Amino acid sequence: MELNEKSVKKLKEDFPIFKNNPGLVYLDNAATSQRPSIVIRALVDFYEKENANASRGVYTLAEKATERYAEARKVVANFIGANPNEIIFTRNATEGLNLLSYTLTSIIPQGKNEILLTEMEHHSNLVPWKQLAKSEGFKLKFVKVKNDFTLDMDDLKEKLTEKTAIVSVTHVSNVLGTINPVEEISRLGKEKGALVIIDGAQSAPSLKTDVKKIACDFFVFSSHKILGPGGIGVLYGRIELLEKMKPFNFGGGMIKKVTLSETEFTSPPERFEAGTQNIAEAIALAESIKYLEKIGLDNIHDWEIELVNYALKKLKEIEGIEIYGPSENKVGIISFNLKDIHPHDVASLLNDSGIAIRAGHHCAMPLMNRLGVVGTCRASFYIYNTLEDVDALVEALKKVMEKFGK
Ligand code: ALA
Repeated sequence: MELNEKSVKKLKEDFPIFKNNPGLVYLDNAATSQRPSIVIRALVDFYEKENANASRGVYTLAEKATERYAEARKVVANFIGANPNEIIFTRNATEGLNLLSYTLTSIIPQGKNEILLTEMEHHSNLVPWKQLAKSEGFKLKFVKVKNDFTLDMDDLKEKLTEKTAIVSVTHVSNVLGTINPVEEISRLGKEKGALVIIDGAQSAPSLKTDVKKIACDFFVFSSHKILGPGGIGVLYGRIELLEKMKPFNFGGGMIKKVTLSETEFTSPPERFEAGTQNIAEAIALAESIKYLEKIGLDNIHDWEIELVNYALKKLKEIEGIEIYGPSENKVGIISFNLKDIHPHDVASLLNDSGIAIRAGHHCAMPLMNRLGVVGTCRASFYIYNTLEDVDALVEALKKVMEKFGK
């Protein structure tokens, strides 16, 4: 389905939040997306009509829950070009990265003691590795961000060595919108025998993902950014690696056999899913994926590019605006600052006009340091945003400038 101003206005009717908040201009999609009623309905339907635990009971409802949870895993696997046994349900992308930071040490070869990250990582792909470095003595290295807001690939090649154990890089910057060359990064990482992790939190919403084509070892993303419910995320791992890795959480559902003296763990993915899982959320996540696939990821990306290019053209007409982001190879995220006005003041004043943006460090403090700012304003677009939303943003920003006498 091609997205344009007319079809998007129709599609917006699928999202109850806009009916319940007339006039809302929601431009904080990189923080979380809104949900269509089909996803909300899937949650309610499960609890009202089908609720039981999965992978445990032999009665009808329990068998149905088990079946639907397994079906949801297949939908997720298909969405990113993986096999179902390579899909682990987590709480969110952050938990996927934490799981890796706790478990990868069990498969890292002797002599490899460096972790390569970038200056543009979200704290979720930074703090877990800093903790691991502290507890296990790994050395962290950071690939530089160039002045054109892209990754310095020469720096990456230089910093990648035979000692690199892990390369963990965001697919898309949550601040700059930059799309990183993850296939090339995976290839280079593999050449040095490193494990390659891609943080897909900001790419999964609008870039068609094929983990086998990227050829990474692990890929994480969150449901709540792709129209799905909160509290559930996905970790993809290459099955040969998952089979060798130690579990993350221990308890019910992840064992093959337990005696008072021994525990034998089951195979992936269940090995990494201890305890009762978010069954309703997994089913609703599958609904959000089906909804996105019906529209088509390529159509979604085309529309966000149209919005972002239109927004950039209009924003550049505002005197004193500073924009942080590359001119091409990006998604629908724009970070900016208005001359000498704190981003929180801008966001508060935009709120008075019914416009929701995020302002601050965006959980990427090292990147803020690199940019030499305390924070930025960030407008991020998704499938229900219109060119009219962009016009509203630009008009409101002009009013902010007037208010501050700029
Ligand atoms: N990671 C989310 C953001 O960038 C919360 O806003």
